[in-house]
Amino acid sequence: MQFDQRVAVVTGAASGIGEATARLLASRGAAVVIGDVAEGAHDVARGLRDEGHRALFVPTDVTDEDSVAALMDRAAAEFGSLDVLVANAGIAEPKAPLHELDVAAWRRVIEIDLTGVALCGKHALRHMVAAGRGAVVNVSSILGTVGQPNSTSYSAAKAAVANLTRSTAATYAPRGIRVNAVAPGYADTPLVAGLPEAVRASMAERQPIGRLARPEEIAEAIAFLASDAASFVVGAVLAVDGGYTAV
Ligand SMILES: NC(=O)c1ccc[n+]([C@@H]2O[C@H](COP(=O)([O-])OP(=O)(O)OC[C@H]3O[C@@H](n4cnc5c(N)ncnc54)[C@H](O)[C@@H]3O)[C@@H](O)[C@H]2O)c1
Repeated sequence: MQFDQRVAVVTGAASGIGEATARLLASRGAAVVIGDVAEGAHDVARGLRDEGHRALFVPTDVTDEDSVAALMDRAAAEFGSLDVLVANAGIAEPKAPLHELDVAAWRRVIEIDLTGVALCGKHALRHMVAAGRGAVVNVSSILGTVGQPNSTSYSAAKAAVANLTRSTAATYAPRGIRVNAVAPGYADTPLVAGLPEAVRASMAERQPIGRLARPEEIAEAIAFLASDAASFVVGAVLAVDGGYTAV
C-alpha cells in the first residue's frame, strides 16, 4: 500500500475524513494535492510539507467546473501525473420530511455531494485516460445504502454516488482505471461534531461496534481501494460502518 511516485488529489481535505486521507497517503509516499473551499486546507498542506511530504493546496469549489478542471491540471503539472482521485468533499443536509423540503438546500446538497463528485471524476479521468492508469475512490455513505427518516437530498446524493461509481467503474476498467467507493458509517468529524451529544450518542449506538469511527479508520479503507493491493477491486462500494448496514 505504498504510493511512492503517485500523485493523489483529495477533495475536502481541510478536515475530517479528507484530512486523514491526505495525511495517510502522504505518509505512504504520495504527493498530495488538496482541493477545498476552506482556507484551513492551507494549514493541512503546510503541515505535510513541514513533515517533508510533497503537498499542495489548490483552492477549489467542487461545484464549479472550471475550478475543478484547474485543480486536476495543476496537480498533474506540479507533480507530473494524476494517479489517484479521492472525491470526498461533501456537506450534510438540514433534516426534514419531504413535504417540508427546502428546495434551495436540496439543490445545494445535490450540487456538492453528487455533481461535485461527477465533476471531479470527469476532470481527473481526462488525465488518467491519457496515462492509461489510475484509481478513483468516491465517498458515499451508509445513507447511500439504507434509508433514514427525514433524510432527503443527502440520501439521494449518496445513493447516486454509489451507482455512479459502479457505472463509471464498468466504463473505465478496460482502460486500466479502477473506480470504487467507500460508504462510511458515522465518523467523528466536524460534520457531526456540532450535533447535540444525545444525537451523537444515538449515532454511536446504532453502529453495532458501539462508537463513532475515527476519520483515520475511513482513510485506511480509502487508501486500500486507491492502492495496488486492491488491483482486482472494481466498482465496489465498501461499507466502513462499524456494522451499521450489516443488521
Ligand atoms: N462524518 C460522517 O459521519 C460521514 C459519514 C458518511 C459519509 N461521510 C462523507 O464523508 C465526506 C467527508 O466528510 P467529513 O465527515 O470528513 O466532513 P468535514 O466537514 O470534516 O469535511 C468536508 C470537507 O468538504 C469541504 N467542502 C464542502 N463543500 C465544498 C465544496 N463546494 N468544494 C470543495 N470542498 C468542499 C469542506 O470545506 C470540508 O473540508 C463527505 O462526503 C461526507 O458526506 C461522512
